[in-house]
Amino acid sequence: MKNPMDNYVILISGRGSNMQALIDAKLPGTCVGVISNRPGAAGLAWAAERGVSTAVIDHKAFPSREAFDVALAEEIDRRGAELVLLAGFMRVLTEAFVQRFNGRLVNIHPSLLPAFPGLHTHETALKTGVRIHGCTVHFVTPALDCGPIVVQAAVPVLPDDDADQLAARVLAQEHLVYPQAARGILNGHCRLVDHRVVWDSDATPAGDALRVPVA
Ligand code: GAR
Repeated sequence: MKNPMDNYVILISGRGSNMQALIDAKLPGTCVGVISNRPGAAGLAWAAERGVSTAVIDHKAFPSREAFDVALAEEIDRRGAELVLLAGFMRVLTEAFVQRFNGRLVNIHPSLLPAFPGLHTHETALKTGVRIHGCTVHFVTPALDCGPIVVQAAVPVLPDDDADQLAARVLAQEHLVYPQAARGILNGHCRLVDHRVVWDSDATPAGDALRVPVA
């Protein structure tokens, strides 16, 4: 049976560990490219070494956010990508870009949204004193770090955590749940219905569980 979406592109800005998890997961369909807005993004070399086509669209070369987003959208369309996966892509996208890829633009964010949108989520989680933190995969809507939630994973905040320790615990879960979410969207086991994500009952992602045990 044909998948609802046959290919995807991954957008990065840096290290690209989520990109690696997505590519290593051997998702249904083809990765038609990794695109970075930063020429020095470490993830580019990793992808190229594995035979994935890469491109750089340097946002600094464009006079406006709008002009950058148009070039980015054209590159995505030129590759024929149906699904766009943001994996540590640290640019705010214009409403026009988000509308153009409506329903096929997905992001991972290092918090349990709607808590802690924006930057420095782990520091904020520690300052706020939450006992449970985590990550969220969501469809992108024009509001920053918002949109229908596909999968979440939660981790405990431990008494002696610093931001780096907490980030590492969350990142390990990101690497599990992002491929689950992408697989579900690509093969049609999860869909947007009335602005909410519905999973087939036999395909509910394992990531939607507390990663609790604390000594
Ligand atoms: C990840 O923790 C991702 O959730 C976060 O950036 C990191 C990228 O790491 N994304 C955001 O904060 C987006 N708002 P990676 O490059 O190793 O995947």
